[in-house]
Amino acid sequence: MSQKTSSQIRCVTCTAPVNIAVIKYWGKTDEKRILPTNPSLSVTLGQDELRAKTSVAVSSRFTEDRMWLNGIEQSVNSPRVQNVLKEIRRRAHKRKSGENKDDLGLAHHVHIVSENNFPTAAGLASSAAGYACLVYALSKLFEVNGEISDIARQGSGSACRSLYGGYVLWKMASKDDGSDSHAVQVQPESHWPQMRALILVVSDQKKHVGSTEGMQTTVQTSELMETRFKLVERRTEDIIKAINDRDFPTFAKITMQESNQLHAVCLDTYPPIFYMTDTSRLIVRLVHAINDILGKVKVAYTFDAGPNACLYLLEEDVPRVLSLVRHFFPASKDAGNSSFVTGLKFDEIEPST
Ligand code: DP6
Repeated sequence: MSQKTSSQIRCVTCTAPVNIAVIKYWGKTDEKRILPTNPSLSVTLGQDELRAKTSVAVSSRFTEDRMWLNGIEQSVNSPRVQNVLKEIRRRAHKRKSGENKDDLGLAHHVHIVSENNFPTAAGLASSAAGYACLVYALSKLFEVNGEISDIARQGSGSACRSLYGGYVLWKMASKDDGSDSHAVQVQPESHWPQMRALILVVSDQKKHVGSTEGMQTTVQTSELMETRFKLVERRTEDIIKAINDRDFPTFAKITMQESNQLHAVCLDTYPPIFYMTDTSRLIVRLVHAINDILGKVKVAYTFDAGPNACLYLLEEDVPRVLSLVRHFFPASKDAGNSSFVTGLKFDEIEPST
């Protein structure tokens, strides 16, 4: 994070990484406050790989709130952006009561400039990184301390998990007002330094049904969701135990079963929602074939609201798995792009379809 100040403008810039869920969030009990139907758990990826970068500035010279995403101006009037701005300003006001609020420029307008270094809305958790970054930057600009993941949640549910590194749980609300539905770190990334994620970019096209609308229709129409609600809390406990014990085969099996169940309830939605493509399904078959050949569960896939795969595996298995993936899905660009960041290593590959 960096902060610049002059007499007329104050600006904060920060970055936030993507998180990829292993226990999926898919459904809300409250659309407005964004409260989930079940707990979810994710792994936050490395800072310098898939990330959002956001600058927020406040100045008496600005005549209105404005926002640019990847260079294109967007309306700030979406209810979610408004909720976030309102809540940050409310907390900043509360904190500064009795002090000189003009110091922070709370009465002035803000400008927001954000960019992703990966495809937006292609099922690669762009809104998660984007809202986490926006809320964090605004909290620094207006000196809002304490828990802020509940504010990020109101931008996009999964965003609350990107405010922490490592293995992150988004808890369901237990209070009536939903205020305790926020993210907590289950383990830092240093707990399991061998863990790696491999992102296979099948398509960078925008998804045909957005997550918000998709999960709404699923909750309204899928009868399979009843079964899911019964299972998912136990699965969450089991995967937390697997993470605590660094038990990769159990972690991997639950991750794959969760992904399969998400896409099963999507298929059970009326009209059905298809996020995975033939290429996605080939990746699933390849992962199971690799695990069969190696005689142990060594790699797991997971798919969100799009065709792109995230594979979780341990460092020692990266060369073998990567060479098999590259053999079956020759990379067209960006192959081999990798780095170690916050304990996780990522490779981006584009399989040919
Ligand atoms: C499939 O967080 O994008 O990635 O709260 O409506 O903005 P809204 O939905 P969003 O949904 C993410 C769904 C998911 C699963 C997950 O990340 O847990």
